[in-house]
Amino acid sequence: MKKDNRPIGIFDSGLGGLTVVAALRSVLPHEDIVYLGDSARVPYGNKSVENIKRFGAEDCKFLLKKGVKTIIVACNTVSAVAISDLKSEFTSVPILDVLTSGVNACIREKPEYVAVIGTRATVNSDAYRMQIHKIMPEIAVKSIACPLFVPLAEEGLTEGPITASVIEHYLGELLSKHPDLLLLGCTHYPLLKKYLRTFMPEPVKIIDSAIACAEFAAEYIKENKLLAGDLKKGEERYYVTDMASDFYVQASRFLGYRIGHVEKVSL
Ligand code: DGL
Repeated sequence: MKKDNRPIGIFDSGLGGLTVVAALRSVLPHEDIVYLGDSARVPYGNKSVENIKRFGAEDCKFLLKKGVKTIIVACNTVSAVAISDLKSEFTSVPILDVLTSGVNACIREKPEYVAVIGTRATVNSDAYRMQIHKIMPEIAVKSIACPLFVPLAEEGLTEGPITASVIEHYLGELLSKHPDLLLLGCTHYPLLKKYLRTFMPEPVKIIDSAIACAEFAAEYIKENKLLAGDLKKGEERYYVTDMASDFYVQASRFLGYRIGHVEKVSL
């Protein structure tokens, strides 16, 4: 069968999308990946819709110039606010997004009551609730913005008293009446998953939209004959728009291994 050795393009506002890269690596070990983190403008989640759309379009243009065969929007905020604009503006490659795969993974569990947590822009867009209700209108959906989870994850504050009080601040209501399913609607939040689990023990299901997105992308790539050859291990190229002094340390927290080379670029 013909192989497609062009890289997969992935972008996020910053480091959160690395959780998608890590998940993708375990399902598609032979694919080359080009990752863009718009670290100069993170967080996107507190910005206006107009700017989030513009940033998303600039991120796509950058990846297309790198010759990618598909683009994965590893940012729930861009997925929630700008996905239809991006899909109509960029038609040369398929654009997959983290929100649709998170919704599909949620629906498969047939919950009665779902809590979606995400950035302010994601929650204000109401995109998760609308997509869930398009398929299963009977599910009760509560969406909660948790903007401080992004800096906590980037700072490596993934447990302890500061994080506990932020969790209680945002999720207090959920802690007294647990949902059936908690959907992590931000690619930064998987770093807090283990700690969130201590506040919401089983049988609450926790869906990580980064894992759901990687699994969906792997299926899509196989079904659409976009798979790369399997003779070598996939390579990764990383681009960021700003390089913080502790970038490598932060990035390895999200990725689970150390990044090799990173190039700073302007969009
Ligand atoms: N990782 C982004 C997301 O999934 C959130 C971070 C941000 O606010 O830029 O929504």
